[in-house]
Amino acid sequence: MNILAIETSCDDTSISLVSCTGDLENLVSTTYAQVISSQINIHKKYGGVVPSLASREHEKNIDLVLKEVLSKANLGKNKAKDFIDAIAVTTSPGLMPSLLIGVNFAKSLSYFLDKPLISVNHLLGHICSNFVSLEEKEYLVNFKYPAVSLLVSGGHTQLYSFDSLEKFILKGETKDDAAGECFDKIAKMLNLGYPGGPAISKESLKVKNFNYDFSLPRPMIKSDDFNFSFSGLKTAVLYLIQKLKKENKLNQETISQICYESEKAICEVLVKKTIKLALQENAKTIFLSGGVAANKTLREMLKQESEKNNIQFIAPQIKLTMDNATMIGVAGYVTYLKKGFSKFEDVKASLEEKIF
Ligand code: KG4
Ligand code: ZN
Repeated sequence: MNILAIETSCDDTSISLVSCTGDLENLVSTTYAQVISSQINIHKKYGGVVPSLASREHEKNIDLVLKEVLSKANLGKNKAKDFIDAIAVTTSPGLMPSLLIGVNFAKSLSYFLDKPLISVNHLLGHICSNFVSLEEKEYLVNFKYPAVSLLVSGGHTQLYSFDSLEKFILKGETKDDAAGECFDKIAKMLNLGYPGGPAISKESLKVKNFNYDFSLPRPMIKSDDFNFSFSGLKTAVLYLIQKLKKENKLNQETISQICYESEKAICEVLVKKTIKLALQENAKTIFLSGGVAANKTLREMLKQESEKNNIQFIAPQIKLTMDNATMIGVAGYVTYLKKGFSKFEDVKASLEEKIF
């Protein structure tokens, strides 16, 4: 099935052409073309995504992104009509003004091209970024169930367990800030810019000798459940910055050390809880996804701990960790295999978090 996939849930306008075959046990995907129009430069000066500006940019760019993706795939308008079998679009969750642009665009295309629609959950999209590659060749991931999935983005921090791609059981999630949000807020306090995750990683790499005389909390690391909390860590960093300022000790070196220790604190909690769930579920595979999955420390720590416990570790290509339409195309196919095409009138933007 050749899918035109559309993603506008936050601040990236993305359209992809993805082909999927096989069933839920053996899902084969091929990416023909992907285009992402990032809005980072617009939102950067506000230190976070401004929803009204995000929807304005989506509206401005979405038809240009469509034209570019068709040209990248060497498809003219008429060829594209023959090529596309279905249109997948992110309908939830996300920023409502942003979602509306993609959903309305997809519905108009569906109506005029007479192609069926698939309504896609963005979180399933992130999980499915593990089942696709950006190269134009057939891609199949070999792994065994039971599986556990850590999804860490700017809006979500969730742990799922699953025995098939038909049912995802939410085992735990953040009770306040998401991990990515925590990176972003700490970076903002240190004037490191937006998005915070890559900026904090870059700073922490500068640390050669970690001779700090402070430590930051690892919130809920010992709790009995699989939930997370990151707002306390953010507050601890705020107090630390205030203290260092008062003592005239906030300088390049201490800023790098705060970044190093913050990144370590976030990663340690994420890894500890993921491994704990994997062991409880007798998992054979651990999947990682979401924007924070681009973090090298997190990838390395989780890989090491997974392998120590004889569990296969799978993470998406770095380019597929951020919001993109390719993962939405594959998630669209998974959704189609489970539920068939969506009814035109049921395709609506919503804030629903549940995957199915
Ligand atoms: O998945 P995503 O692109 O958008 C959402 O669905 O939220 O995730 C964006 C988040 C931001 O909070 C950003 O700071 C974080 O992912 N991020 C990172 C890194 N790259 C992006 N966090 C830590 N380390 C990174 N290298
Ligand atoms: Zn996302």
